[in-house]
Amino acid sequence: MAATNKLIIFDTSLRDGEQTPGVTLNTEEKIIIATQLSKLGVDVLEAGFPIASQGDFEAVQRIAREVGPLMEGREKVGQPMTICGLARATEGDIKRCAEAIADAPRKRIHVFLATSDLHLEHKLKIDRETCVKRAVAMVTLAKSLVDDIEFSPEDAGRSDPDFLCQVLGAVIEAGATTLNIPDTVGYNLPHEYGKLIKYLVDHVKGADKVTFSTHCHNDLGLATANTLAGIQNGARQVEVTINGIGERAGNTAMEEVVMAIHTHPALFPVHHTINTELFYPTSRIVAETSGLVVQRNKAIVGRNAFLHESGIHQDGVLKNRSTYEIMTPASVGVTDIALVLGKHSGRNALRSRGAEMGFTLNDVAFQRVFEDFKALCDSKKNVSDDDVRAIFEKENHPIVA
Ligand code: KIV
Ligand code: ZN
Repeated sequence: MAATNKLIIFDTSLRDGEQTPGVTLNTEEKIIIATQLSKLGVDVLEAGFPIASQGDFEAVQRIAREVGPLMEGREKVGQPMTICGLARATEGDIKRCAEAIADAPRKRIHVFLATSDLHLEHKLKIDRETCVKRAVAMVTLAKSLVDDIEFSPEDAGRSDPDFLCQVLGAVIEAGATTLNIPDTVGYNLPHEYGKLIKYLVDHVKGADKVTFSTHCHNDLGLATANTLAGIQNGARQVEVTINGIGERAGNTAMEEVVMAIHTHPALFPVHHTINTELFYPTSRIVAETSGLVVQRNKAIVGRNAFLHESGIHQDGVLKNRSTYEIMTPASVGVTDIALVLGKHSGRNALRSRGAEMGFTLNDVAFQRVFEDFKALCDSKKNVSDDDVRAIFEKENHPIVA
């Protein structure tokens, strides 16, 4: 299965994303986000952790019933979104999860159990042998309820790779079809994470029958880089969130991974079904419903992502946008881009904004406007269009109707 070039996009905005400190989404908000993710072309949606609360259970159940069957915008995918629920490796979690997702046309149970010695000793207080037995027993139970089973060895990034091979080989035999490799605490560096994925793809017994998946956290700001290293080393599913929301410093941002693939097709010979033109609107929906503001300089979807202030850059962009842009704003759904006028702006940008406003000046008159504009920029942080218009008008330069 690892030979396929389809990259499965698994969105966990509603599960790991909802674990963002300070974020709680109600069921209606989850339905809105889930519907948008379906239109975006997501393959698998982790809708929640049904055992966590009655509210979570009901939200997952409604998403399974109402969003699970939707086909709008999914022509490229060709099938409805798989609805997935998370479960610890316990009987109660797994049965509750199966119940919550039961009505989705396509459904998956995601079972996780920690495998690092640190977690086994201090958190679970079990030895490695018990860990393997528990993983096998719980994957077997999940498989008796649902066909599509994902298993995650939590804290895989700090687990012994040979022990991982043992656990993963055993859960494949028990019926797991996707093996997700979480760098739970965002500790790995890209070359390490890539090496781990390759080691598992090469050494786990039965690896050719399953899909390997990445799940990276951003504690060192490396989640996207680690995910890309995972793809290069054989992973064919990526677990991501919109805007990179998630526990602590967040999860891998979907928009970053997908656009990195787009801009470097030779390095990532994979295809996906995401409609990238919906990234910006989706980002806005997630930001507005979660209340989590997107940082202005966030890659792809931040307000500044396609704004150019320096005169040199503005001049280049006015001549040809690709001088300072590696993707078109339209390709990610950003419209209405204006050059930002500030103290680093040059004559070309100011002249061009003036022309948009209907002002055409001779060189001498324009020089006076430019000097007034620079003086204003030194005294004011944000120079608005009204300020610019006032400078042109104050000089009483001719206005072309
Ligand atoms: O980060 C993590 O380990 C997780 C698992 C539950 C997959 O979110
Ligand atoms: Zn996680």
